[in-house]
Amino acid sequence: MKKLYLFGNLKMNKPTCDLTEYLKKLSKIAKSSENVVCVSLPYPYLGLAQKLLKKSKVLYGAENCHYEPKGAFTGEVSVPMLKEFGCNTCIVGHSERRTYDNETNEKVNLKLKALLKESMTPIMCFGETKDERDKALTKKVIKTQLSEGLVDLTANEIKKIVFAYEPVWAIGTGVSATSKQAEEMAKFIKEYLAKEYDLTVGEIVLLYGGSLNAENAQDILSKTHIDGGLIGGACLDVNKYEKIINTVVEE
Ligand code: PGA
Repeated sequence: MKKLYLFGNLKMNKPTCDLTEYLKKLSKIAKSSENVVCVSLPYPYLGLAQKLLKKSKVLYGAENCHYEPKGAFTGEVSVPMLKEFGCNTCIVGHSERRTYDNETNEKVNLKLKALLKESMTPIMCFGETKDERDKALTKKVIKTQLSEGLVDLTANEIKKIVFAYEPVWAIGTGVSATSKQAEEMAKFIKEYLAKEYDLTVGEIVLLYGGSLNAENAQDILSKTHIDGGLIGGACLDVNKYEKIINTVVEE
C-alpha cells in the first residue's frame, strides 16, 4: 500500500460545518487512516487548530507567511509566529497568491528559506496556465518556477519540501488534469528535480492539485509518481474529504 499525503487547503473559506466539529472529525478520520493528513487554514483559525489538533495525527499549517522573522510589515505574519501556534506546514507560491498578490519566484525562494530555517515543511506550489499549456510552454514554465524558487537551497533542504504540481487551469474549475496528464508532469518534475539537485526520485514528495475530488482521487493518486493531493474545494465538506483521505492505492 502506498502512503498518500492528503493536504487540504481551506483558502479564505469556512468548512461546510462548524470549524470545531470539522477539526474534531478530521482528527478522528486521520486516526484510522494510514495516510498523512494535513490542513491549511486562515491565520485566525490556527489557535483553534492548535487546541484541537495538538494531540492528533493531523498536521496543520498556514496558507502564507512573510519571509522576514519580524519587523515593520503591517498585516503580515512571520514564520516564528506560525511556530508559536504549533504549525507544521505552510503553503508557498500558490497560484492564487502568484496571480493576486504578486508572489514571485524570488519571494517564493525567500519564504522557503525562512520556513526551512525554522524546521517547518513548505508546500511549494507551481504549475502552468491554460495559455502556457496551449503554447506547449508547460515544461519550460515549470522549470523556471522550480529553478528560481529553489535558488541556493541544498539537496538536503529540497528533500524537506513538499512539492505541489497544480495546473492553474484545473484549480477550482471542476476540470482536473487527467490522470495521464498529471502523471506525465509528475514524472517530468521528479526526474528534473532529481537530476538538478542530485537526489533520487524516491526522495521527492510530489502532490497533484486542481479539482481533485472523491470521484477522481483513486485514479489520479494511484499514479506512480504522484504521492498525494492538495485539495481545495473538496476539503470543505469533511465527508467528501474523508473519502479522499480513505483512498487506498497499491505501491
Ligand atoms: P481545488 O483547489 O481543489 O479547489 O481545485 C486546489 C488548490 O488550490 O490547492
